[in-house]
Amino acid sequence: MADAVTLAIAADDIRTRVGELGAAISEDYRGRRPIVVGVLTGALWFVADLVRQIEVDLDVDFLLLNRFGEGGRIRLQTDTSVPLVGRDVLLVEDIVDTGLSLTVLRRMIEEREASSVRCAALIDKTTRRIVDVPLEYRGFEVGDEFLVGYGLDHEGRFRNLPDLWAVLDLATFSADPGTFARRVFRTG
Ligand code: IMP
Ligand code: MG
Repeated sequence: MADAVTLAIAADDIRTRVGELGAAISEDYRGRRPIVVGVLTGALWFVADLVRQIEVDLDVDFLLLNRFGEGGRIRLQTDTSVPLVGRDVLLVEDIVDTGLSLTVLRRMIEEREASSVRCAALIDKTTRRIVDVPLEYRGFEVGDEFLVGYGLDHEGRFRNLPDLWAVLDLATFSADPGTFARRVFRTG
């Protein structure tokens, strides 16, 4: 079991990279007041850290997507609290995998006549892409292994881990996530 999960990206490295992304975003949005729109729930941690590294005046909002089944339909469950018309929207995702969610989101925001739409994702799984979708700011490019931690979950768990972990053997892990939980948390 110890081999089923391995440390992928340490919290320190995440912090450094988020700082670099924040600096690039600060430069690109200089003189504007963007609205950062985080995609719940996974992007919550990334949004919280990223916006504190962005040195321009901005608004923060969230939306919540619902996904039905593997590769199923994507539906907006909770919308932003303010209209996006005429705004410079910076969408923030935890991870871009097939690219389907981001494609749907970008189209939706463009249809609402935002002034501009850009996207930042902490993790990019380029090799898993089904639809080619623009991604202006990416934290890390990874392979196709399943990740947990720093907002990323396995059936709702492990979002609160400060580091990112890679699941090397998803079948073993899924059959018994408790073993990993006991390794990383003060469990029992
Ligand atoms: P996609 O790009 O539409 O395929 O979907 C991206 C979404 O799938 C993300 O927002 C996550 O919720 C989920 N996801 C994809 N890969 C992972 C992973 O490695 N760990 C946890 N969630 C993932
Ligand atoms: Mg997500």
